[in-house]
Amino acid sequence: MSVTPISSASAAGGGGPDLPVPRHVAIIMDGNGRWAKKRRLPRFAGHKQGIAAVNRTVRAAGDLGVEVLTLYAFSSENWRRPAAEIADLMGLLRHYIRAELDELAREGVRLRIIGDYRKLEPDLVALLDHAIERTAGNDRLTLAIALNYGAQDELLRVTRRLMREARAGEFDPDALDDAAFEARLDTSGLPRLDLLIRTSGEQRLSNFLLWQAAYAELVFVDTLWPDFDRAHLAAAIAVFGQRERRYGGL
Ligand code: IPE
Ligand code: IPE
Ligand code: MG
Repeated sequence: MSVTPISSASAAGGGGPDLPVPRHVAIIMDGNGRWAKKRRLPRFAGHKQGIAAVNRTVRAAGDLGVEVLTLYAFSSENWRRPAAEIADLMGLLRHYIRAELDELAREGVRLRIIGDYRKLEPDLVALLDHAIERTAGNDRLTLAIALNYGAQDELLRVTRRLMREARAGEFDPDALDDAAFEARLDTSGLPRLDLLIRTSGEQRLSNFLLWQAAYAELVFVDTLWPDFDRAHLAAAIAVFGQRERRYGGL
């Protein structure tokens, strides 16, 4: 299902004076390879253009009043790709942080990583930790990048940790509730997920934010990620604003 872009001016007002803006938006950035294939370019070209889309989207999210933008950049299943593509993706990530950190810091963006990112190459882990520390005091927009992230892996890590804490007598299993569980998720402390967007026409979650998406509104757009821009984000936010959220109630 395609979403027609509307002007950012109308979405900045939520498409109407009292339409809500989602506090937390997550995006499954899909379609880089198909974007490149359509142009008979190597897949790398699609990933490179994908970075330009990230820059546009981060800026737009901040301008539109979103508090947290979570981007799915590399899944725990993406290790199944050819080594050369994985190296390209890691290279682009390294380049992105190096090139954009000053700008992110200037624009009040706080960086956060979700996923088991400490399993990435050591220099990349150090670079990410430095960027997290450098932007820790910012509060205009939190940019959470999902790296080596898989929701099932996240849920297993939480479960393992709880079991260890219980075994050590540090946690009473009867005290386990939503809040105690969420405090151990990679997204702890972030507002609940309101809107989940996937680009490229695929309509699946691909192991992204399975717990957090419980009551998120889902918006699927046909646009390939490298073509995604402010107008697409504004349009998805306007669609969100018109959805009726009921959380099981009436
Ligand atoms: C999304 O684009 C980027 C990552 C998964 C890292 P793809 O690389 O999945 O592009 P398609 O789905 O092959 O078009
Ligand atoms: C999901 O896209 C992961 C990211 C966008 C990082 P994939 O392209 O890996 O998902 P599948 O394989 O089509 O489900
Ligand atoms: Mg894909």
